[in-house]
Amino acid sequence: MKDVFEISGAIRSMRGDIPVYRVENEFASLEFSTYGAQVLSWTPKNQKNVLWLSEKAVFQHGKPIRGGIPICWPWFGPVKTPSHGPARVAEWTPIGMAASSNGMTVVEMVYETPDLLACLTLRFGKTLVIQLDTTNLTGDLYSVSEAMHAYFAVSDIANASVSGLDGRSFFNQLTQKREIQSGDVVFSSETDRIYDDCNDLIHLHDKGWNRTIVLERFNSNSCVVWNPWTEKAKRMEDFGDEEYKSMLCLETAHAARDARTLKASETLSFGMRVAIV
Ligand code: BG6
Repeated sequence: MKDVFEISGAIRSMRGDIPVYRVENEFASLEFSTYGAQVLSWTPKNQKNVLWLSEKAVFQHGKPIRGGIPICWPWFGPVKTPSHGPARVAEWTPIGMAASSNGMTVVEMVYETPDLLACLTLRFGKTLVIQLDTTNLTGDLYSVSEAMHAYFAVSDIANASVSGLDGRSFFNQLTQKREIQSGDVVFSSETDRIYDDCNDLIHLHDKGWNRTIVLERFNSNSCVVWNPWTEKAKRMEDFGDEEYKSMLCLETAHAARDARTLKASETLSFGMRVAIV
């Protein structure tokens, strides 16, 4: 029997244990899974996949998929188990998929815990827009940290630079110290930073592919910038030793000082819009 996404025109196939859906419209194609509500690729017409997926990614229940856009929710990082929260290793419920009037395709999925309800809306075409709404189902205050952990593909990390963060303070997760960004972010060693006081537009420039990715964030004052570099890459089983050269994570977040507290029944929304120029 076809499921709701197949009925609406998605093509379903299996990668390991995980069903993956492929959808195409006039402007782009998208692959996603209900496992983790994770976007796996977004390829605008006549362009490369904007997102990165590890050749060693594991498609197995209980393990996160390395690449695309995992959803870290309702906590960010290893503050509790599982690291980055249960949402990226949970099966989300499909709600629906439809074409919108401007030619974009809209996909909706939800995931519920005893305390919280998450509703993820993807819109894709020439741009990729993701919104996550979290509703506090408890009668009390509830603290949430979260991230859209986007892995972007780059020609070579040596060709990549990030603008829009100059002068912003960040928490350096490697030294556990706060620092101030000076100029563009460039990469020559392991990088793991939470810029938690910035709502600016961020640009990822790639000299090798002559491409700029524009990342616009909605109701998010934090952006995580991560590249594991050589040693950490070797320690990760689902990450090739040399793959750090071909990716950069720019994560739209509510993390560190930007974590949020929801009142009873309150809904918190945040999101990102990705475009190529
Ligand atoms: C980033 C964190 O968001 O995710 C890093 O800042 C972490 O510290 C990285 O290493 C990957 O996490 P994971 O759990 O997917 O290996």
